Amino acid sequence: MESRAGTKVWREYNAAQAGRPVRSLCLDAMALAGPGGGRQAVDLGCGAGKETLAMLDGGWRVHAVDSLPDTRKRLLRIVPADADGRLSIEVRAFQDLRTLPTADLIFAGYSLPFIHPDRFGTFWAVVLAALGSRGVLAVNLFGHRDSWADIPEWNFHTEAQARRLFAGLELSKFEVYDADGQSFRGPKHWHIYDVIARKP
Ligand SMILES: C[S@@+](CC[C@H](N)C(=O)[O-])C[C@H]1O[C@@H](n2cnc3c(N)ncnc32)[C@H](O)[C@@H]1O
Repeated sequence: MESRAGTKVWREYNAAQAGRPVRSLCLDAMALAGPGGGRQAVDLGCGAGKETLAMLDGGWRVHAVDSLPDTRKRLLRIVPADADGRLSIEVRAFQDLRTLPTADLIFAGYSLPFIHPDRFGTFWAVVLAALGSRGVLAVNLFGHRDSWADIPEWNFHTEAQARRLFAGLELSKFEVYDADGQSFRGPKHWHIYDVIARKP
């Protein structure tokens, strides 16, 4: 997590995100959840804020969480003034979160793997507790064959372990990506689960 990737790395990563499209996992989750209509969403590890902005544009109220100290400044730079009242920002490490607002849409793009495995279970319980009735949860998790799986501060799951995290939810998507590719730190093997689930 922060001790391994460090604030500087996340800052550089987020700065390089400006030109990319909104993540398709977020768009798919928004489509499943339906129009925001002033309902509450949460963006966990909001980074550059692209998905936060997409959800605001979709009519959601958004609670954006990230541990980077300059998160507020970064988000307020890109958020239109008329959406400001619908945005709340929490600068906090996931492992220090004890509660989240009840939400109809929770998105975590490439952020949850960066929690220490010893702290992941407690954090996951906070996430599940925040998911409202018929709420949609969309996350990327890392698999055990990922190149970074030897990093002890980050969490990785077998497919069976990842599927168990969504027990009791309706799985709308569970896609496995298991291939060599590029990261912002050079070539690597990616083993990722892209998951969208809904509370019954
Ligand atoms: C790989 S970036 C992803 C950002 C964005 N969601 C995206 O899809 O591009 C990970 C983000 O999660 C944040 N992050 C990493 N570990 C965190 C932790 N333990 N608690 C809170 N935020 C964390 C970083 O500051 C960074 O902005």
